[in-house]
Amino acid sequence: MCGIVGYVGDDAAGPIVHGGLENLDYRGYDSAGMALLGDDGLTITKREGEVSNLGVPAVAGATCGIGHTRWSTHGPPTDTNAHPHTGMSDDIAVVHNGIIENYEELRATLVADGHEFASETDTEVVPHLLERELDDDRNLHAALESVVAKLEGSYAIAAVCTGSDRIVATRHESPLVVGHGDDAAFLASDVTAFVEHTRDVTYLEDGDTVALADGDATVYRDGEVADRPIETVEWDAAAAEKGGYDHYMLKEIHEQPTALRQALSGRIDLERGTADLDLTFPAGFLDSLDEIQFVACGTSFYAAHYAAQLVESFADVRATAELASEYTVDGGDPWRTLTVAVTQSGETADTLSALRRANGTGIRTLAVTNTLGSTVTREADDSLFIRAGPEIGVAATKTFASQVTTLALLSVFVGQERNALSAADARDVLTDLRGLPGAVQQVLDGADDVREAATAFVDAAAYFFVGRSHGYPVALEGALKLKEIAYDHAEGFAAGELKHGPLALVTEDTPILAVLTEGTRPGETLNNVAEAQTRGASAIGIVDGSVETNSLDTAFSVPSLGPVTPLVANVYFQLFAYAIANQQGRSIDKPRNLAKSVTVE
Ligand code: AGP
Repeated sequence: MCGIVGYVGDDAAGPIVHGGLENLDYRGYDSAGMALLGDDGLTITKREGEVSNLGVPAVAGATCGIGHTRWSTHGPPTDTNAHPHTGMSDDIAVVHNGIIENYEELRATLVADGHEFASETDTEVVPHLLERELDDDRNLHAALESVVAKLEGSYAIAAVCTGSDRIVATRHESPLVVGHGDDAAFLASDVTAFVEHTRDVTYLEDGDTVALADGDATVYRDGEVADRPIETVEWDAAAAEKGGYDHYMLKEIHEQPTALRQALSGRIDLERGTADLDLTFPAGFLDSLDEIQFVACGTSFYAAHYAAQLVESFADVRATAELASEYTVDGGDPWRTLTVAVTQSGETADTLSALRRANGTGIRTLAVTNTLGSTVTREADDSLFIRAGPEIGVAATKTFASQVTTLALLSVFVGQERNALSAADARDVLTDLRGLPGAVQQVLDGADDVREAATAFVDAAAYFFVGRSHGYPVALEGALKLKEIAYDHAEGFAAGELKHGPLALVTEDTPILAVLTEGTRPGETLNNVAEAQTRGASAIGIVDGSVETNSLDTAFSVPSLGPVTPLVANVYFQLFAYAIANQQGRSIDKPRNLAKSVTVE
């Protein structure tokens, strides 16, 4: 969470830094601020609320600046707590993502030395410490290196000061990427910030520091210049824009057929009946596995839950999905376990922490992510990309589809390596996967019908989603979408559990939405739905003709695609949640209290 932007070049820094913040405000939108280094020193502008509240300050001669958009951790979202923060004077400005865990101790020492603090943030200790370390030559880079040695926690920090004409920055367990333009250097917590200016980037590693000066960036490690590769981002600025849709979320829902094609591209060989993934495990490793553990949070956890079911059916190996924040290494044989960290952003602190626990015991780890160069890809033994393209809406949509699809390919891959899945059976699954983009497009073509149907339920007291088997994680995901963007009470249940308690919540104001497709025991689920209907609830079912569903109040059809049919059903749930939230006038792309990527535990 939180977004950092920095720019040093020949052009006016104000509009570039502001534009970068606008591109990043999905990372946090409680407050925003900028520090521009101009002819008269530093001009700091910061405000509570979204980046749009900030405006572009006109600062003469400012070709260097940093900016920040915040998701509050320490101190409520106020003008004062907004970044950048300064020291005793306005000569140094600092922006920061993450948490400085020992800030209270540092602050006490600084206060004892006579420093006065203005905000309630942990960040403010950093400019005060820099101020103390800065020598007469105003060597900000050297000052940062000695300050970093005093910090505990996870952070990405960027600083600027008068008399230095440069930005310095560092990272520890929080992403930071440098952009290389023509006579310009960029810095950001996410490439999206500056991709309209350059696609040539360097991903910093934990412990690196970087100095941006004279339109160039130099990376240092332990005081020495470090050689870090320049990589080219595959997508461009247009891919990160709204493209005529009212919200990023709606655009991203509609991008699913393309995202799915990308996830599948070059990975299916129907003739041989194989999933071709660019993964090389040690000889015999997959064959001798006792267990595959998926770890993830939120939507990625539901994708992992779906994947664990697929692995058990295709690969004949025990598979579990665990919430990353609850993960403990259970004492099994580390050489016979694979831990798969599923994370769209590749930066989720809970997931990284689970991955580190697995790595720490020698378990082989695999990252499944959307984000090239992200921390998870650097810490896991192997990486598999879901190729969904940039997702800006805080509510994950296309990345869920791409995660499940990529993980389904992984399940087939592992199944074949273990000789648990015949080529003929693999061919069936791969053919179903091939059908996904078209099937999802079919659902999207009926989006107007979903919007109309949702109108009747806009004032519902709560929404219950139910499903069995692969329909269960989809029910959980459907409810999460509605919670996140409509702020309404929504719960997902294993359909069979409804009668064991939740049925007490059912009234005529609580619609029930059910996955009723082949392979999810739709007949039994339909009985559970009927039990809710008997108590007055309206029933909306996603059906594929595998059972008689005349009893439903509303039915939406999907084509049958074997084990991935519920993934297609999920698109109806996305459209339903979007329609409800939109009719309620919610802030769909930036729901209250949330941020796209949660980099604190
Ligand atoms: C999904 O709509 C949410 N924004 C959230 O649950 C998200 O999936 C979770 O925070 C995990 O993020 P990650 O995939 O980037 O690790």
